[in-house]
This record gives sequence, C-alpha cells and structure tokens, in this order.
Amino acid sequence: STEALKVAVVGTGYVGMGTAVMLASLGYDVVGVDIDERKVEMLRRGELPIYEPGLEDLLRASAERLRWTSDYAAAIPEADVIFICVGTPPMAGGAPNLQYVAEAAQSVARHLNGKLQVVVNKSTVPVGTGDWVSRLLEEHAENYHANRYVVVSNPEFLREGTALHDSLYPDRIVLGSDRPQGIARMRELYAPLLDQTFTPPACAPRPEGYTVPELVTTSLSSAEMIKYAANAFLALKISFANEIAGLCECVNADILEVTYGIGFDRRIGHRFLAAGAGWGGSCFGKDTSALISTGGEYGYAMPILEAAIQINQRQRHLVVNKLQRHLPRLQGKRVAVLGLAFKPNTDDLRDAPAHDCIARLTALGAKVRVHDPVALAAARREWSHLKYDEAQSVEEALRGADAVLVMTEWPEYCALDWDVALSGMRNALVIDTRNVIRTRPRYGTVEQIGRRPTLMGAAPLEASA
Ligand code: UDX
Repeated sequence: STEALKVAVVGTGYVGMGTAVMLASLGYDVVGVDIDERKVEMLRRGELPIYEPGLEDLLRASAERLRWTSDYAAAIPEADVIFICVGTPPMAGGAPNLQYVAEAAQSVARHLNGKLQVVVNKSTVPVGTGDWVSRLLEEHAENYHANRYVVVSNPEFLREGTALHDSLYPDRIVLGSDRPQGIARMRELYAPLLDQTFTPPACAPRPEGYTVPELVTTSLSSAEMIKYAANAFLALKISFANEIAGLCECVNADILEVTYGIGFDRRIGHRFLAAGAGWGGSCFGKDTSALISTGGEYGYAMPILEAAIQINQRQRHLVVNKLQRHLPRLQGKRVAVLGLAFKPNTDDLRDAPAHDCIARLTALGAKVRVHDPVALAAARREWSHLKYDEAQSVEEALRGADAVLVMTEWPEYCALDWDVALSGMRNALVIDTRNVIRTRPRYGTVEQIGRRPTLMGAAPLEASA
C-alpha cells in the first residue's frame, strides 16, 4: 500500500506506551486507547504516568502523530494494525489473569471495520492465547467477515529503564502468525527499524555499531513461547550466578572474577550474570511461574525453573541473614535502605527485593529509613503497609544508622565516597547486595554477595549487566 499504516494501541502501560510513542516517532499516526480516563488525560497533557528516561521527550516530540482516547469507537475502525498491550497480572498460583485481554479483544471486535485488520498481541500471554483471541474476535465482531482480521503475536522484549532504546533498537523482532497476511503487514510496519539507512528520531540516536534487528517469523504459538522462554532463561541465568556466588563464599573464591572468566566463552557471555539480591520486576517472577503453571496443565514438570525461583527467594533471605551475622538482635536498631526500585532508572516497585527485606527488618523490630532517587512517591502509594521513614538524601538516610543495605545499584550509590558516607553512621556496617562498592572503605565492615573480601576493588569491573 502507498498510504502509511494507521495504528491503534490498546493499553497504555509500559509496553503500550512505549509501542505507541515508538511507532509515532517512526512517522505513523497512532491512537492510544485506555479505559482509565485519568491516564488518558495525563497523556494528552504530554505527561507520562510512569518514570522512563527519554520517553517523555519523545512523547512530546511526536505529539502531532499521537492521540489518546478512552473510546474504542474513535480508534479501532480506522486502524490497520491494532496492538493489544494490556496487563496480565499474576493470579494466585502463578497463571496470568487474562481478563483484561478478553475485555480488550471483545471491545476491539465490536469496532472492526470488515476490512483486513491485524490484531497484534504484545501482552505476555500463555501459549494458545492468540487462538483464543481469534475466537473472541469472531464471536464478538459486529462486522464479521471470514478471514478479514489476522491475529499476530509480536512479543515485547523491552527492559524498564531502557524502554526507548530497546524498542527502537531491538536485537530481534519476533512475528508469529498462522496467516501470511499478518506477517506481511507487520513487516511493512516495522520496515523503518529493519532498514539500516533509516534516520531515527533526534532524541534517540542510534548506538555506535548498531545493525538492524533479526526478523524472526514463526507460528503463532512459537512466538508466544519465545517470549516466556527468553525471560525464563534470563531469570535462571541470574539464579545460576547467585547459586555459584554462594559457593564462592564457601570456598573463598570471588563471583566477579568467576563470571568475568566464564563470560568470555561466547556460548555463555558476560551479561545477566550479576549476583546480588536476585531478580524482581514485573516479568521474571511472573513469566517463570506462568511457564511452570502451563506445564502443570499438561502434567509436565519444570524442575529447572522451580529451582530458579527457589534460589531467588533464598537470595532475599540471605540479605537479612548477612546483616544478622553482625547484628544478631535487630530490635531497636536503625537500618538504612538505599534503593527501593527493583532495578535502577525506574520507579517500578513490582516484586522488588527491597520490599521483602524491609518487611523482615521491621518484623524483627528494626527501625528502617529508606532512600531512593525516584521511587519514594511510588512506595508511598504502593507500600503503605510497610513501616519506614523516608530520607531525601543518602546522607540523611545513613545519619546515626547501625547498618545500611544497598538494594538497588542506582548510579549515585555506585559513585558514593563510602569513607564520607560511613562517617555519619553510628555503626559502619554495609550490606552491599548489588556489589556496587569497588574500593574498600578505610574503616567499617562491608558484606557483599559472593565476593572474596580481600579482593574488593581488585576484581574486574564489568562482568555483568
Ligand atoms: C526483563 C527482560 O530483560 C526484558 O527483556 C523483558 O521484556 C521484561 O523483563 P525488566 O524486568 O525491565 O526486563 O528488567 P531487567 O533489566 O531484565 O532486570 C530484571 C531483574 O533482574 C532486576 O531486578 C535486576 O536487578 C535483576 N538482575 C539483572 C540481576 O540480579 N542480575 C543481572 O545480571 C541482571
């Protein structure tokens, strides 16, 4: 076709918003749909409901190509491609809740225009959901014409904190469909990203040495599986590093040296081997549990993934256990926590290790004071059940404390001068769960994860992320 494709994106969470803004920046007219009027209002004002570096700039820069609405009728009929990017929160037992997907599919169905439209699943949904969405469209379509719409699975691999970079410069684009028309139209949509000569938006320049992504086309169910298998593999890579880190502590080896050494084997690689407090966030826990639960439906056990989850839970316990090695009685002790978000550059608190540590500390009678460069406000909303004080600076958090836990490797914590930081504490004890300290402070006690204490600072720096 000569006309540029028109796009609708249903759901304005991380994935939906990232997709909408990215496609608008490529020159498409995009309308974002969300039933939450408050979010729609914010987006219309050019404000993001979440914190994500660079995305707000691109949102404003692409404003003339972006519309936001809570009305499906104002978005779906004119769209050539309709992305479903709604949440799939985990239910008790681990299986994702598909209620929002069902509601979105039904609402989309009612406004299909009877011409060829591609409905793209970007939400992380269990294998088989694409077929189910197809059936929902068929059941609820007002303008149903056989073969007039195609369902495509196009899983999203973006990381929070680097969402913009990841959606413009992915390693691969996965398109799964059981009908060729679906793949063809999506290939057209993504053509700019697949073109090495394409000029990207000024505020998100191409990284040096970047080559265009691999286009992977598969069946519908394989694409659905690729998303889960990728996240489960990354999660178990981290759990593997954490398991080895524990053994390093037993035998006086150093996990940074070990991962640095094994990573040069190209079959292994250096990335996602950072030992620490373990993984959090909205994906790894949810997706590994969902895979296990899918296996369960077929009577198929997944012991590797079960172990990855167990190790991740043990890692959170380890943090407070390490603290108690030095301060066995936490009753009345003042503990500073640096970092609440599950990782740096986000205010996302979902499944953050800091949550479980704070809960356990307060249960043991400690007085907790927390700092985070951006997530304090989010914690005020979402962690109201936890008891802690807020500090506006690292210095304030540490003043008079008996111990400090570093829970997130925010750049400002990595750059701290620990000699200065520790001087304000009553007792200079650091449990550095992200191995951010690379120069041993002149005094005080530093506990890290899997490190050989005498080696601190001597180990190679970049063995992970
Ligand atoms: C992840 C996947 O990376 C992404 O491809 C997918 O689309 C969604 O899930 P995200 O949850 O945003 O992205 O964060 P990521 O950067 O992958 O980190 C996940 C967690 O693992 C964080 O808690 C991080 O601290 C932890 N982690 C990561 C480690 O503990 N060690 C590492 O080596 C890497």
